[in-house]
Amino acid sequence: MIQEITAENLDPDHFIEEKVKEIVDTVGDETAINALSGGVDSSTVTMLGHRALGDRLKTVFIENGIMREKESEQVVSLFKKLGVSVDVIDAKEAFFAALKGIRDPEEKREAVTQTFYKTVFGRIVKESRAKYLLQGTILTDVDETVAGIKRQHNVFEQLGIDPQEAFGYRILEPLIQLRKDGVRKIGKVLGLPEEIFTRIPFPGPALAARVIGEATPERIETVRQATAVIENLLKDTGAFQYMAILHEDRVTGMRRGKREFGQQIEVRCWDSIDARTAAPTRLSFDLLEKLAGELITVVPGIVSVTYHIAPKPPSTMEAV
Ligand code: XMP
Repeated sequence: MIQEITAENLDPDHFIEEKVKEIVDTVGDETAINALSGGVDSSTVTMLGHRALGDRLKTVFIENGIMREKESEQVVSLFKKLGVSVDVIDAKEAFFAALKGIRDPEEKREAVTQTFYKTVFGRIVKESRAKYLLQGTILTDVDETVAGIKRQHNVFEQLGIDPQEAFGYRILEPLIQLRKDGVRKIGKVLGLPEEIFTRIPFPGPALAARVIGEATPERIETVRQATAVIENLLKDTGAFQYMAILHEDRVTGMRRGKREFGQQIEVRCWDSIDARTAAPTRLSFDLLEKLAGELITVVPGIVSVTYHIAPKPPSTMEAV
């Protein structure tokens, strides 16, 4: 049973001191590696790990082909300013090969998980001889996976999977007692800039979780462009999370007097504290119209834009 530490009960300095000591004690003279995606959890774990291990922690950014626009460049330059050097590993082909032909949501998650931990990290860990992988799993990831709602890509032990046996390395999860609000507090104290510790959550399976049906390079590109539009227009709403979903069904549209059997983007924008429950944000109709106008203009092939208005539960935040 994992002992939860709520954001109110969290003493960041004490927590950081305790976790740094745990990491130092566990890793000993060995080296560790961690994957930074630029999200709140992995950014926080990167800072914590570097505080504990310094250069004995190697930080990599896995370019999996399903991240948001300019993500790797932004993450690398931001962490450089924080004194952390990040190696970008190009693994696009491996991920798209694994996702090819897969339509089922949980199979997609499994494909991303196996490619990440087995194919890509298995190799990096072997080459670097690191014994440990440090990662930012949080309590909400564990809850939803154990409850069988969504298999989060980073949960193993609670499912009876031994990473040492399955992948050949140990996994350390110093944030596992926290939820997102707690992680933000820790990230702030560790010196992350506000743009990172207040960043909206982004799922491990990345944009593959934002297309219904097969995640092909073309469909990922469509949802990537839509995501950029939505994140830009909704960044000042204060919402917990917002996203673009690319639907699989096509609908009849018309452009310049001609029929266009086009694609549909669903916009989701959530108010939530900890992602366990959530309500759609009451966006103004003016803002919704602006979103639609930009999406149909900027993203090729989009003829329909809808806004998601069901709460979680019974909806979940991501669509797949
Ligand atoms: P759901 O869709 O389950 O999302 O209501 C709750 C929160 O978790 C994020 N999410 C994921 N994060 N791997 C992750 O690392 C996943 O497979 C995954 N699925 C959902 C989601 O973005 C939201 O913040």
